[in-house]
This record gives sequence, structure tokens and C-alpha cells, in this order.
Amino acid sequence: MSATYELHGDVAVITLNNPPVNGLGHATRSGVVEGLAKAHADATVKAVVITGAGKAFSGGADIREFNTPKASAKPDLHDVNTALDNATKPVVAAIHSVAMGGGLELALSCNYRVVAPGAQIALPEVKLGILPGAGGTQRLPRVLGVETSLNMIVSGEPAKSEALAKAAGQKLFDRVIEGDLLQGALAFAREVAAAKPLPRVRDLKTPPPASADIFETTRAALKTKARGFPAPLRCVDAVEAALNKGFDDGIEFERQQFEFLVGTNESKALRHAFFGERTASKLPDVPEDTPLRKIEKVAVIGAGTMGGGISMNFLNAGIPVTILETKQEFLDRGLGVLRKNYEAQVAKGKLKQEVLDKRLALLTSTLDYAAIADADLVIEAVYEDIAVKEQVFKKLDEVVRQGAILASNTSTLDVDKIASFTKRPQDVVGLHFFSPANVMRLLEVVRGKATAKDVMATVMNVAKKIKKVAVVSGVCDGFIGNRMLEQYTRQAGFLLEEGASPQQVDKAAEAFGFAMGPFRVGDLAGNDVGWYIRKRRYTEKPNLRYTKIGDVVCERGRFGQKTGKGWYDYEAGKREPIPSAEVQQIIEDERKARGITPRQISDEEIVGRLVFSMVNEGAKILEEGIALRASDIDMVYLTGYGFPLFRGGPMFHADTTGLAKVVALMKDYQKNPNDDTAFWEPAPLLAKLAAEGKTFN
Ligand SMILES: NC(=O)c1ccc[n+]([C@@H]2O[C@H](COP(=O)([O-])OP(=O)(O)OC[C@H]3O[C@@H](n4cnc5c(N)ncnc54)[C@H](O)[C@@H]3O)[C@@H](O)[C@H]2O)c1
Repeated sequence: MSATYELHGDVAVITLNNPPVNGLGHATRSGVVEGLAKAHADATVKAVVITGAGKAFSGGADIREFNTPKASAKPDLHDVNTALDNATKPVVAAIHSVAMGGGLELALSCNYRVVAPGAQIALPEVKLGILPGAGGTQRLPRVLGVETSLNMIVSGEPAKSEALAKAAGQKLFDRVIEGDLLQGALAFAREVAAAKPLPRVRDLKTPPPASADIFETTRAALKTKARGFPAPLRCVDAVEAALNKGFDDGIEFERQQFEFLVGTNESKALRHAFFGERTASKLPDVPEDTPLRKIEKVAVIGAGTMGGGISMNFLNAGIPVTILETKQEFLDRGLGVLRKNYEAQVAKGKLKQEVLDKRLALLTSTLDYAAIADADLVIEAVYEDIAVKEQVFKKLDEVVRQGAILASNTSTLDVDKIASFTKRPQDVVGLHFFSPANVMRLLEVVRGKATAKDVMATVMNVAKKIKKVAVVSGVCDGFIGNRMLEQYTRQAGFLLEEGASPQQVDKAAEAFGFAMGPFRVGDLAGNDVGWYIRKRRYTEKPNLRYTKIGDVVCERGRFGQKTGKGWYDYEAGKREPIPSAEVQQIIEDERKARGITPRQISDEEIVGRLVFSMVNEGAKILEEGIALRASDIDMVYLTGYGFPLFRGGPMFHADTTGLAKVVALMKDYQKNPNDDTAFWEPAPLLAKLAAEGKTFN
């Protein structure tokens, strides 16, 4: 039983007890219904208190039951709420720490609610692309009014109990209890034991909002903010129903919206991402109870773009960092940038000065390896040059204590080779941060062939501490993210040769949901970065064709916004991309040289080739075991590459499209003589899944 029943004199106490956050799984729901029945059958019981054991009142649905029959098994949450509605003895919810989703809906069905200060109150369902489906959209407006509840339901963000309790006219909380919550709740229950009639939220009327057009203004604001997601607008509709419809009609309306939203691809994508993030941290061959190495001191080698950002992650988490450089001036420059980044946050009011001071107090710098000899984790972020990496790792091997983890932030080099520079390859791992490293959530953890299991367990744990989404990749050129991106970029180039313009390609990609199309991204990041890598590719992989257009664009000094021109022209000081006549000429010259008559290319073909090229490479990455699961690939793209969240990542998008259709499209693309026809041969795994009518996920 995950809810217990106990008598405290004339008050029955039902305690939700389903660690870690008292999720309302089937056993817990049954426990509440049975407890209520018992309390009603016992003539000595005058009132009931429902409370939560441990860390929460209740965090809502039990996510472990998602997609299992138990999730909807009777009694469901509606049945629990109905039992509460029908109670003839007063029921008091005693809330502490967390009341979210179904947990809050349950509390709203009780006659009274008492609360401890500091509790987080939320209806976060919108974050999974749905809405509160157990009365939340109808009950919350009745106790908090339209403005506050609309804001909470549409954003899904938590509010603090003490702030809500202070709001004028609120009926969410009947009392704030400082001190022992259960004792306070018992005393309150005895005070109201004889109340008649029992107050019920369902019997209240939603107070009209101060401004009648609040629903319209919220909808207008959501047009851009909720792009691609239907749930926030449906939340607005549901709250409006709480104002305009009677309770039972409102509940019926909420149910219809809920059922619609659960079936949408957008909600499926959000749930995929939610579970994908949790799954990514699990390694099948590394047991959850693997002892972790202690990480109390971090050293970062190199104070460049990445070194500074990487250091900030650890300082933010309260972990001391020492940065090592080759020259004092490089240290000064790097630390100056880091300080400026923090000061900008202070100026914007995002960070308090005293917090900044605390963080900077954890930072030291050095030119001497002896100063990092006792580090627990060293992260190298020096130039992307194997000779420099060799020099650094040999030195680390000499100086740093045994048992420390030695990590490289390399984007393209072979982590096994880097490990071989040391006599402790088992302690070496890739930690591939993304720029800006203090902002981007993705961390590709590159597992070398010798990397020890406890090193993997430790870095996955550290990733959580610094709030990264860690995805494990095997060693290969480009790891998961950049290896797939290479195909996307190549396709973008072929599309130019065949008749598209940079602006058409970008527009199509942006309409699909990318924040920026490939050419705008190039201009922002610097076209020279890719050019540099391509030049190496031309010798390493002579058969891998790239359009020459990008090279000519770089030869003309068109590196992007930093040089004032790239794939687009820019007016001084502005970031608005303006179509470039020079680039158009470069494209036309290349078409001529290849003997191509340009054709009209549909946006559908553009997006198909951009995205399904990544999917085909992703299938190979899965087959080779470089990625452990399709959802890991999706997490890389959602958290590191701006792939539209409402599409759930490239592999999920392929699943949604239907793999048979994806294969048919690839066969079509294969007929195009300008394209890389060999590449478009569907990867064996993809072909097999498509033939069997299966999906990646
Ligand atoms: N910039 C990115 O977007 C990005 C993203 C992911 C990974 N990376 C990888 O991160 C690493 C660093 O890239 P970056 O962009 O920060 O480069 P950067 O040029 O900005 O910084 C490199 C720093 O390393 C220092 N350095 C060079 N040799 C050193 C040595 N022997 N000992 C100590 N310090 C030394 C340099 O003085 C410089 O400050 C590279 O491996 C790169 O591939 C970069």
C-alpha cells in the first residue's frame, strides 16, 4: 500500500507514501479511496487529513506508470477526486514541499487546504504538451482567480505557497502553518470538524478577471511564444471555460481538450524528450550503484572560448576550479572574459553581486602544473591540434594524482589516441561541451575503449550537478552530433547547386522549426570554422563531396557576421541578413561549372533532404553502437543543435513521418545525379525497421 491510514484520536490521517515524491500511482490512488471509505465507516472519526510522507505532498502522476495499463487503472484520479467531492466528513489536505499536477488537483478536491511555507505549487502538464486533466483547469481559477491561474497553467511554472497565500481574496489555502505541519493540520481539522455544509471548490464561482480581454491578450502573446505547440492555447480555452461554464460542463470541456492533446505529435514529442533525458543518463553495463570517484576540485587547461565557459559551470555548482594557461596574458584575457560574462548577468539582474563574489572566490589560476596536481577532474580545452593535446596529456599523466579523471573537450580528435598519451587510459574520457559552454545544455560524453566504468558513472553524475544533459557517444569522427550535422551541411550545399538560394533553404528550415537555417547559422558561428575542417576532409576523405560554393564564399573573406559579410550581406552594426548579389553570382558560376540547369526546388524537398540525411547517418550511428539508443540521438539534437522540440528530435521525427515513407523518399533522392547517390542508400537498420513496420524509438 503506498498510502497509509492512521488514527490520531478523532482524526484519520491518510499519508501518501510512494517515494521519491509520492507520485499518484495506482496503489497510492487506491490507498486514498480506501482510506476515505474507512474514515467514513468509523463513527469515531470526525475529520480526515491527507498528507505526504518525506520530500513532498505529491509530485503528481507516477511517471513510472506512464504508458502502462496501471496509469489509467481504476480508481483513476477522477475517481479519487469524486470520492473527495462526496466526502461527508471534512477532508483537509496538509501540503508541504511540493504539490504539483495531479497532487495539486487532489488537494483542490479536498474541503480545506493548509500549507507549510516554501511549498512549490504547480500545474506543469503543459510542459508535456497536455493540460491538467483531473479538474485543475476548472478548480484553480475558482480559488486563485483567472489571472494567476491562467499564468500558472499556461506556463507550467511553480509558484511559492507563501506568495499565493498572501494574494488578496485567494481561497487556495485556508491556513499557513509554521512549525509542525501535521500537528497544525490536526488542530485545524478539529476546528472544522462540525462545519456544515462542507466547502467544496467545485461549488465556488470563478471570480471575473479585472480585464475582460485577458484571454485574447494571452492568446496573442502565445502566437509567437508557443510556436508549434497547441497545448498552451488549449489551456487558455480551458481556463476561459472555468469562467463561462458551470463546473460539470467545464470538467467535460477539460476532458475533451486533454484527450485531444494527448494524441498530438507535439505532446508525444515532449514526452519523448522528457523520458529521453532521464534514459540518456543510464548506461546498461554500468550499474546504478557503481561507487563514484570524488569530484571536489576541478582543473581546466586553456582559458580560451571553451575553457572559460566550462569553468563557469563548475563555479556555478559551487565546485572550485583552477585554470591553467601557458602565459599570464592568456590567463588575464580568459579570466577577463569570464568575469565580463558574469558581470553581464549581474547587470541584467539575473545574478546577485554577492553570489558572483562567492563564485569568483572559488576560482584560481596558474601557469604551473604543480598547482593542479591534486585535482579530481581535469578538463583539457587547448587548441584542436593533436600535437598540443599530446604535450598536455603527457604532462597531466606525469603530474596529476592517480585516480583523477582526465578529460578532453576535443570536438574532432580521437579520444582513444589522446588516452594513449597517458599510462592511465582507463581514466581518460571525452567531455564535449557546446559553445557557449555555460549556456548550452548538451554534454557529449565520449567513452573511449579503455574508459573505466566508474569514470563513466562519475562523469554522468557530475554532468547532473552542473545541470547538463549528458549523452554518451562512442569514439568516431564528429561523435553523434557533428557527424550527423556534416550530412545536413552537405545537403544544404547541394541544394544551392541545384537551384535553391541560401534564403530559400533557411526559410524552409525555419518553417520546419529550426531557430535558424544552415546559412544563417554559418554566418553567426563563422564560415571559416567549417572551411578549416573541410580542407582537412579533402585530404582525409577525398571521396566525400562538398559543394565548392562554401569554399569560394570563404576565399572572398565572407566569414559571416564577424567580417560583415557571409552567405548574406550585413549593414554595419546590424544582424539582419540581406541577400547577397556576390553570393548569388558565386552560386551561378558553380552551377555553370557543373553543367547544372537550376530547377525550382520545393520546401518539402529541402527539409526532407536536410533532415533525413541526418536520420540516415543517425541510423548508422545506432547500428555501430556509437549511440546507445535513438532517443540519445534525439537528445543531442534537442539540447545541442536547436532541433525543434515539438518534433522530438530527428529520429523521432522520422518515426512520426513513418520509416517506410522515409525510405521511399531516400530512394527518390538517390535518383538525383548531383546528390551523393551512394549516401542515400538507406542504412541497413533503417531499411530493416521500415520493412518490419517498426520505429527507431
Ligand atoms: N569553440 C567551440 O565552439 C568548441 C566547441 C566544442 C569543443 N571545442 C574544442 O575545445 C577546445 C578549445 O577550443 P576553443 O574554441 O576554446 O579554443 P581557443 O583557441 O579559444 O582556446 C584555446 C586556449 O588554450 C590555450 N592553450 C593552448 N595550448 C595550451 C597548453 N599547452 N597549455 C595550456 N593552455 C594552452 C590557448 O592559450 C587558448 O587560450 C578544442 O579542442 C576545440 O575543438 C570548441
